[in-house]
Amino acid sequence: TAPLRLGIAGLGTVGTGVVQILRRHAALLEARTGRAITLSAVSARSRDKDRGVPLKDYGWEDDPVALARRDDIDVFVELIGGDEGPALDAVKAALATGKDVVTANKAMLAHHGRELAEMAEAAGRVIRYEAAVAGGIPVIKALTEGLAANEITRVMGVMNGTCNYILTRMQATGQGYNALFEECAKLGYLEADPNLDVGGIDAGHKLAILAAIAFGTAPDFDGIEIEGIQHIQLEDIHQAADMGYRIKLLGVAQRTGRGLEQRMQPCLVPADSPLGQLEGGTNMVVIEGDAVQQLVLRGPGAGQGPTASAVMGDVCDIARGLRLATFGQPATTLETLPAARSALP
Ligand code: HSE
Repeated sequence: TAPLRLGIAGLGTVGTGVVQILRRHAALLEARTGRAITLSAVSARSRDKDRGVPLKDYGWEDDPVALARRDDIDVFVELIGGDEGPALDAVKAALATGKDVVTANKAMLAHHGRELAEMAEAAGRVIRYEAAVAGGIPVIKALTEGLAANEITRVMGVMNGTCNYILTRMQATGQGYNALFEECAKLGYLEADPNLDVGGIDAGHKLAILAAIAFGTAPDFDGIEIEGIQHIQLEDIHQAADMGYRIKLLGVAQRTGRGLEQRMQPCLVPADSPLGQLEGGTNMVVIEGDAVQQLVLRGPGAGQGPTASAVMGDVCDIARGLRLATFGQPATTLETLPAARSALP
C-alpha cells in the first residue's frame, strides 16, 4: 500500500507534538494501520524558530493554502487555529483539491462546521476533528462510533481546562480571580485572546460541536447561552463550599420540550460528584444515552501530547480507510440535518 502523506499547517505546541509522534512511532503507526504515515511538508509562521524537531527533513511552504494544494499530500492537518482567515482558507483549498482534512480547530468548526462537512461530502473527502473537543479524550469517537446505537439525551461537561484551573485554585489557595488569571498567563494556559477562555467562548465552541454530533444538527454556537467566569469571587467559591458544592464552568446540551437547549455557565455541582472533584486543567464529558445510561469521560483537555494524540488518532482512521466514521451516519452528522432548533420537537 502507498504511504499516507501528510502536510501539517501550524507548528505550535500541537503541531510540533504531531511531528514528534510521527517520528517516534513511525513503525507502530504502520503496524497498526497497515500503511506508512509520512510527512511531506509543513507550514508555519517562522521557518527559523527552533522547535526541537528537524524540519529540514520536510518540504516547506510559507502559505498554508499553498501547502493544502500540494500534490504530494493526501491529508491536510490544520493546526493554525482561528475561526476565519488562513485556517479556513487552507481547509477549503485542501478539500477542493481532493485532500482529507484533520483539524483541531474548534472555533472554525463551531462557526463553519456544516459548510465544511458539506464541502467534504461533495468532494468525497472527510474532515475529522477529534482534537477540537476535550483534547486527549476521544469523545467524538465515543459519540459517533461506540454510542451510535443510542438516542443521546444529554451531553454535559467541563471543557475548558484554564477555567477549571482558575476555579479549583481559587478554592485551594484562597487567591482571587485576578491573581490566578495572571498565573495562567505566565504558565501559558491562555488562548491568544484570553476572553475565549474566561468568557466561556472556547468551551462554547466545543459544546456546539458535541451537541451537533449528539443531536444530529448543524453546530449552533449562537444558540448557546454563554456566561464566563470573570465575575466569580472568592466569596462565591467559599459559600458554595460551605453548602457542599463546587462552582464549575459547566456546559449542558439537552433535548427539551422547546427543542435543543445549550448552556455554558458557572454552575453549582455537588463537591463529592465526579464533576465536583475535577481538579486543575482536566476536562470531563458526561454523555447520557437511552441504552448506555451514563458515561463519564475524564482526561487532559489540552497540551502537546494529549492533543497530538487525538490528531493522530484521526490520521490513523484515515490510514485504515475508516472514511465514514464521523460523517457517514445520517443521524449523527454535522452536515445532513437542519439547524438545531427547527429539527427538534
Ligand atoms: N484554552 C483551552 C483550555 C485549550 O484551556 O481548555 C484547549 O482547547
